[in-house]
Amino acid sequence: MKKTIKLLSFAFFAAAILMSCEGPEGPAGTDGTDGIDGVDGTLACLECHSATVMDAIVDEFSLTKHATGSSWARGTSASCGRCHSHDAYVEFVRSGEEIAAAVSTPVECGTCHSDHQTLEGDVSAPIREIDGVVAMVNSILTFDHGKGNICATCHQSRRTGAEYDKYTANTMVEVKLATASADAYTEYKAELDAGIINLGTNGSITYDNGVDSLFVEFDVTTDMVLVTSTHAGPHHGPQANTFAGITGYPTAGVEFDRAGHTDCVSCHLNDTTAASGFGHSFEPDVAQCDACHGTAVDLEGIQADFQARIDPAVEELIALHILGDGGTATSNYTVADVHPMIQMMTRAQYQAFYNIMCILEDKSLGIHNVDYTDQMLDLVENSLGLK
Ligand code: HEC
Ligand code: HEC
Ligand code: HEC
Ligand code: HEC
Ligand code: HEC
Ligand code: HEC
Repeated sequence: MKKTIKLLSFAFFAAAILMSCEGPEGPAGTDGTDGIDGVDGTLACLECHSATVMDAIVDEFSLTKHATGSSWARGTSASCGRCHSHDAYVEFVRSGEEIAAAVSTPVECGTCHSDHQTLEGDVSAPIREIDGVVAMVNSILTFDHGKGNICATCHQSRRTGAEYDKYTANTMVEVKLATASADAYTEYKAELDAGIINLGTNGSITYDNGVDSLFVEFDVTTDMVLVTSTHAGPHHGPQANTFAGITGYPTAGVEFDRAGHTDCVSCHLNDTTAASGFGHSFEPDVAQCDACHGTAVDLEGIQADFQARIDPAVEELIALHILGDGGTATSNYTVADVHPMIQMMTRAQYQAFYNIMCILEDKSLGIHNVDYTDQMLDLVENSLGLK
């Protein structure tokens, strides 16, 4: 409905301009030559600007995480805004500036859509045009996903595995764990006492009552890696990096074969069964995949095979206290079921951990790059002695 009104006001605006040009009548001019025929405005426009199409799109869209997600509150900080706020995103793609939004609001129609550049000829949906996206983790690498550059600007890694694998000399590292409650402290202390957390030869812990904090000192040797954050990993949504084969650590691998898929849109806005006749749920329509691939690509089969390799690796990382178990699953682990632990580990274990985080955070169970996911899982299995 909103769009129909907008369209009417566009017509009204044009009429208003014509009216305001009407001055006192002068003498009649000579007839001009006939202009070329225009498009059938109403019909062409109504293909999209009808209440049925636009309302259905608005309804589908309003149920997605793009509209409802909790992370949109994060856009008031400059380091998060470009991907977690409409205003800061628009500013970033306009000027390259990372700003904090005064008030952070979610993705909306105008985040991805611009104004029509022309209303003549074959009018298509106006799309914000974004050139190749410079990778946050590698300034000489550009993601080129066509219309999907809109998506890749946000759906990319913020970090690489090198972030934590950085000690070239033996180093004592103190980590402050703020404990919100005495219980949390007791729990952590019990884990330390049980030797579950690896402090290294000269490591120690101190509990400071005054500031209600636990200070843990790790004795990091150069053959070990210390993870100091429960948010370790590439950050959520490293999809563009998966396509490029550069999410994992240290695995730089094969790129997705882009012959059939130049951008994100071909899979994520392809749901022709949607009420709008178009997919603003952003969920891939598997029937469409099958229509093209026939039986050659068994989507669910590929995903199930990968899940069957991910699960034992996750269980091993939980046993090593490298991943924390959220207790929400015993198989078919997703990124929501586990979280990184503050822990020191061997380099091989760290590489296994990092690659598993990349695969889980990507959320496609390998579809965003089948060969590369296979490559990452080989490394995981070798590093953890699972094969
Ligand atoms: C401004 C940054 C931004 C842009 C642009 C963007 N996304 Fe997202 N997307 C996000 C964030 C952030 C979330 C998660 C929100 C949350 O859960 O709080 C998300 C969630 C998703 C989801 C999960 C949907 C769900 O409902 O579970 C899909 C799929 C997705 N995006 C695909 C895309 C595609 C395809 C495009 C391009 C057409 C795109 N995104 C453009 C930031 C963005
Ligand atoms: C380069 C873009 C980018 C930046 C910068 C960024 N994020 Fe995100 N973030 C994303 C995307 C994309 C998603 C959604 C991923 C998905 O659903 O697959 C996301 C998801 C999240 C989520 C939701 C996780 C969940 O599963 O519920 C939180 C919380 C979050 N980000 C916090 C932050 C914070 C805090 C910052 C700043 C310190 C930040 N992000 C910076 C792109 C970014
Ligand atoms: C995350 C990005 C994104 C958001 C948000 C978004 N769209 Fe789209 N929209 C797209 C893309 C990409 C296309 C496909 C363009 C193409 O293939 O030419 C599209 C296509 C369309 C089309 C054309 C459909 C057709 O059949 O050709 C309409 C109409 C539309 N969007 C309306 C909306 C409305 C209304 C909203 C807000 C409720 C919205 N969009 C939000 C990305 C987005
Ligand atoms: C293929 C789909 C499609 C067709 C056909 C289409 N539009 Fe649009 N139009 C859109 C989308 C998508 C938006 C952006 C919606 C948003 O950002 O809220 C839009 C926005 C607009 C706007 C507001 C922004 C602006 O450009 O000023 C006007 C006015 C408009 N369209 C008029 C028209 C007219 C007149 C026609 C026919 C000549 C037409 N549209 C044909 C999809 C379409
Ligand atoms: C318009 C036709 C078409 C549609 C629709 C389509 N694909 Fe494809 N896809 C291709 C072509 C062409 C290739 C490249 C040649 C090949 O590997 O078969 C390809 C390749 C792939 C690959 C292999 C990439 C690699 O690195 O080897 C995967 C995985 C894939 N598609 C998944 C999907 C999924 C999932 C969908 C639905 C969401 C889908 N495809 C829809 C045409 C299509
Ligand atoms: C070859 C088809 C294809 C292409 C191209 C593609 N995706 Fe996906 N994507 C999928 C499939 C299939 C899934 C898994 C959906 C499922 O299992 O429910 C997925 C899952 C996702 C998810 C997680 C959705 C969720 O359930 O939370 C996000 C986010 C996402 N893709 C973003 C992107 C972005 C961004 C791009 C472009 C850089 C992209 N995708 C390109 C097929 C594709």
